Amino acid sequence: MEIIPQPLFPSVVWTTLFDDRAILNPKLLALAKRMRSNDPAGVANTNVKGWQSPNNLQDLPEFDDINLRILQVCERIGESLNFKQNYTYDHQAWLNISPPGASNKIHFHANCHFSGVYYISLKAPECGSIFFRDPRVASRMMTYPAEKPTAFTAEEVQLHPEEGRMYVFPGWLEHGVEENTSDQDRVGISFNVLAIPRS
Ligand SMILES: [Fe+2]
Repeated sequence: MEIIPQPLFPSVVWTTLFDDRAILNPKLLALAKRMRSNDPAGVANTNVKGWQSPNNLQDLPEFDDINLRILQVCERIGESLNFKQNYTYDHQAWLNISPPGASNKIHFHANCHFSGVYYISLKAPECGSIFFRDPRVASRMMTYPAEKPTAFTAEEVQLHPEEGRMYVFPGWLEHGVEENTSDQDRVGISFNVLAIPRS
């Protein structure tokens, strides 16, 4: 007897590692530090004990390179999902600098198709994992008696962040970042992307 599992409504995290990260990351780290020193208060959002920039990197020419990469990655994902040809992609991006002891509360992003983060600098695994919570709300009523979690039974999934890797996921997928227990800042660029009709 063959039993065939067929996943329905999957939740996906897409990731890509940039080959030139060793060149790209020091430039982005320097820009991040400069932005923080120009605006030490930053913006209060999901970041606990950390610094967050305003959502304006998409308007700053010094971030053109990473802005383009965010759009290219999301465009490729959109193509793989059969998004309409006459749609284009719009985004907002911001910096997060999470010193030792900082974390990001669990949250999701409304009004966007994709959200994501690109990690510029961190010390893994002590910098804390990015974690995702099962979006199938009704499934939380009953825990499965699994010895070891599988993609179907897991209630939460942790991924170790990696320098130079971009993570993209649906904006509705709840996520957070654990406390940074390393002795080094965890630095990343977060973003929201919306597919909109070409004008
Ligand atoms: Fe987020």
